[in-house]
Amino acid sequence: MNAFSSPKIRTLSQYDGQTITLKGWVHNKRSSGKIKFLMLRDGSGIVQGVLVKGECEEQTFNDFEKLTQESSILVTGKVRKEPRAKIGYELTVLKIEPFQIAGEYPISNKEHGVEFLMDNRHLWIRSQKQWAALRIRSEIMFTIQDFFRKRGFVRFDPPILTPTSCEGTSTLFSTPYFDEKAYLTQSGQLYGEAGAFALGNIYTFGPTFRAEKSKTRKHLTEFWMVEPEMAYGTLTDVMDLGEDFICHIIKHCLENCQPELAILERNQKELEAITAPFPRISYDEALKILEKRGHAIPWGEDFGAPHETALGEEFGKPVFIHHFPSQIKAFYFKQADDPNGDGVDHDGKYALGADLIAPFGYGEIIGGGQREDRLDVLEHRIREHGLNLSDYQWYLDLRRYGSVPHAGFGLGLERTVAWVTGVEHVRETIPFPRMLNHLKP
Ligand code: 4AD
Ligand code: MG
Repeated sequence: MNAFSSPKIRTLSQYDGQTITLKGWVHNKRSSGKIKFLMLRDGSGIVQGVLVKGECEEQTFNDFEKLTQESSILVTGKVRKEPRAKIGYELTVLKIEPFQIAGEYPISNKEHGVEFLMDNRHLWIRSQKQWAALRIRSEIMFTIQDFFRKRGFVRFDPPILTPTSCEGTSTLFSTPYFDEKAYLTQSGQLYGEAGAFALGNIYTFGPTFRAEKSKTRKHLTEFWMVEPEMAYGTLTDVMDLGEDFICHIIKHCLENCQPELAILERNQKELEAITAPFPRISYDEALKILEKRGHAIPWGEDFGAPHETALGEEFGKPVFIHHFPSQIKAFYFKQADDPNGDGVDHDGKYALGADLIAPFGYGEIIGGGQREDRLDVLEHRIREHGLNLSDYQWYLDLRRYGSVPHAGFGLGLERTVAWVTGVEHVRETIPFPRMLNHLKP
């Protein structure tokens, strides 16, 4: 049988009453006289195998003691319904064939420090909670593509090696590129805008890089972002699509990730409560709420972690904050001084941006808005940001040849996975996290 079609623990119910062979690793084991218990994991799940003297092969029974944690084994046994088991089934073991007896495994059931676990990330991912979080990540990645495809968005892949910055020059990773200098992409957005003008609604989905010096539970230096961009889109479209998108992701996980959410002990009531509509408040309104909650900040300052947490607490739901001061937003945001925009003349004080703040301290998971579509204003903004106009000529072409209102956003995959799974830190939501001071393994 193929490796991909052989029986798996996750689909054990298909084999009720049958004798099958499972291929996996020893997760745990214990003995009590004439009965021995094996916790077998195969990547798809964990099942308890029961070895009864006389019922299973004598050699298997006698050699059981030699099996160490994480030894790789082939287990042949009979699948049996067991209502007390988490997965509803157990295996009556007939035979175990070891493939390799593992040396003393560095990760045991005792508490390990985070540094140790991070250094052993290649093994740590076998642990139950890590396993569960990574499976949910995979489900979310799948459903993201499904969401956009069903709504007619075309996947559009921007380059990873880029000549310029998108999100400011302070977090760029640079690398030699023959005789030039290249930067690892901070966001696919600028290319996504070109894509939207060619293909209509598009989305990009891939790794992005930021040389973040911040050591917080929300920051990685390499993270995945999905970035839809809509030709003829507006700020309202950003919030409508973002809201729909989040609800879709949560619903998919509740329907498809029950074993994982259980292992993570995720409070599912909290997830079930994430329903549309999400509150939408302006930056100015947010400042008033922050003041009331004892977190006042002066107008024109960006939110920090305590402010995001306070805003999350105020609503207990994801909340959109829109109309930020232009001064704290990137050069490409459309300024709200356009009478055709929101009908109010704000003298360029505000940007048509919207961030979605997740509740419970997970912070900003979506950032986006409407793009500046006027050539002269955009040129002015690029200069104001101290950027080189000549680097952005190709981008400015989009305003020269058929410019239209357009809008989009970026959703950080890891922050979203952290929020859905309830894990504290984004480092546990990506297989091999890259952070300040962490490049290995
Ligand atoms: O708000 P950001 O910087 O927006 C952009 O990059 C836009 N160009 C997106 C767009 O409009 N197409 O980043 C978007 C999201 C954030 O809301 C956050 O979820 C995530 O990306 N993010 C990070 N996630 C993990 N580690 C970091 N260092 C992150 N920086 C941003
Ligand atoms: Mg942002």
